[in-house]
Amino acid sequence: MQRYGLIGRHLGHSFSSEHFSKRFVKEGLKDHRYDLFELADIAELPELLRTTRGLRGLNVTVPYKEAVIPFLDEMDPLAAAGGAVNTIVIDNGRITGHNTDVAGFRSLISPLVPTLRDPGSDIKARALVLGSGGASRAVAFVLRELGVRFRIVSRSRERGDLTWDLMDPTVVRVCRLIINTTPIGMFPNVEEAPPLPYAALTAKHTLIDLVYNPKETAFLKHGRSHGARIIGGLGMLHAQADEAWRIWQQQDN
Ligand SMILES: NC(=O)c1ccc[n+]([C@@H]2O[C@H](COP(=O)([O-])OP(=O)(O)OC[C@H]3O[C@@H](n4cnc5c(N)ncnc54)[C@H](OP(=O)(O)O)[C@@H]3O)[C@@H](O)[C@H]2O)c1
Repeated sequence: MQRYGLIGRHLGHSFSSEHFSKRFVKEGLKDHRYDLFELADIAELPELLRTTRGLRGLNVTVPYKEAVIPFLDEMDPLAAAGGAVNTIVIDNGRITGHNTDVAGFRSLISPLVPTLRDPGSDIKARALVLGSGGASRAVAFVLRELGVRFRIVSRSRERGDLTWDLMDPTVVRVCRLIINTTPIGMFPNVEEAPPLPYAALTAKHTLIDLVYNPKETAFLKHGRSHGARIIGGLGMLHAQADEAWRIWQQQDN
């Protein structure tokens, strides 16, 4: 039996479990299994690894994406650059950490980049990245790679380039790409949206929300009502899961 799973603190409803269980059925992988492993503390990980026979890979979710790092033997350079791990490979007792959010966000944004500029303009696109956590670091990595200039918006002056009180209509007008990497608006708080002057949005704006539940968040609804292009987090969620599967399969080749 080849076993995979998800570690986190509260795993009530998990996208990954459903995604991988369906995938194993679809691909006829009867000897593959995906389980949820709720850990009250990340210090329980070595015991889980020791006692779960056939464990080949784990996804990692809140709040252990950073806390898991001291338990790894090795880090993939992308995970090391982002300082967060959401996928683990277990190969002959050796544990390697990866971050598939980078690949997930890259696949979402890359096709859009040429469309972010005005036709005939050589002015580079400017972006606002809302939040400074693990997903924000993956987004920042990809934007740097693509040469998109951006500012991080944070509640804290130390963690961001801008704080929320500086989000005036001029900033929003200039930054035509706005990416929400905070959990604001996530179920069950579906009425909440990041505090921005939404009236400054235009049809030239693109709003991306990494939140995937609900599919269309209050943040995206504001964008839609001002004619902006809107993109939810589901595409990235699938892309990052596909990347995890690709990494796990590499062990077998
Ligand atoms: N679609 C996907 O594939 C995908 C992948 C990864 C994550 N996500 C989603 O992205 C969201 C963030 O995940 P994460 O792992 O990056 O979480 P995280 O590490 O906790 O970071 C979230 C950041 O958002 C900001 N924030 C949190 N609560 C806030 C509030 N009430 N008001 C304003 N800002 C707040 C904080 O930044 P400051 O402290 O700087 O304010 C925090 O660092 C979650 O909803 C997650 O489900 C989606």
